[in-house]
Amino acid sequence: MNNLLVISCSPKGAKSPGDQLAKEMIEGLRRATPELSVSTLDLVANPVSPISDAYAQAIISGASNDDPALAESERLITQLERCDALVITTPIHNFTLPAALKLWVDNVVRARRTFTAGPSGKVGLLKDRPVYVVISSGGVHRGPAASQPEFITAYLRHVLGCVGLLDVHFIHLQAMAAGPQYVSASIADARRQFSETPLFSNLEALLNE
Ligand SMILES: Cc1cc2nc3c(=O)[nH]c(=O)nc-3n(C[C@H](O)[C@H](O)[C@H](O)COP(=O)(O)O)c2cc1C
Repeated sequence: MNNLLVISCSPKGAKSPGDQLAKEMIEGLRRATPELSVSTLDLVANPVSPISDAYAQAIISGASNDDPALAESERLITQLERCDALVITTPIHNFTLPAALKLWVDNVVRARRTFTAGPSGKVGLLKDRPVYVVISSGGVHRGPAASQPEFITAYLRHVLGCVGLLDVHFIHLQAMAAGPQYVSASIADARRQFSETPLFSNLEALLNE
């Protein structure tokens, strides 16, 4: 595991607690894996273009991969193909993924490039690799205190699986709008969820050294 791609989607950038938590965990990973190379993609600072008519036509007409209309999609897919593991940090916006992340999805989930459609459905073409998704929310969506639904976890699991990314782990950072006492408990809980995943296991001990 040498190449990590970190995609962030928060309007708060580096001030996002989800981004800070991921950064902390990646720092632990760096200590455990000195050869680790980390690439970052901030989808708010460097947004993916809205889907253009030329892009839609290229997809529908089955244009070749070197069609200029597919250049941005090719760049994003190549970046994804190069990583051994992917970390996505994202807020929930109106029960689901933010528009910035959806545009990335619409560029990397591409027929004949990252999936094929057969008689029994879509089949992913990307090599599987672990994906860690940190989902931050103002409210609570799971557990006994859940008070609202969310449609981001099931959606991301499905759409990432569609391109062949099946090893997906979710870390839920909930109740971020509920006051400081809840926020620190949520961060501690999210840290525990991270440390229960294969790549980040035992990192708490490393970080406390
Ligand atoms: C436009 C918008 C819509 C939001 N919708 C929801 C929502 O549906 N459910 C929820 O729990 N929180 C919602 N929130 C709150 C954010 O998910 C929460 O503040 C989160 O911690 C932001 O993460 P970030 O700091 O990484 O950006 C919304 C925030 C914004 C700005």
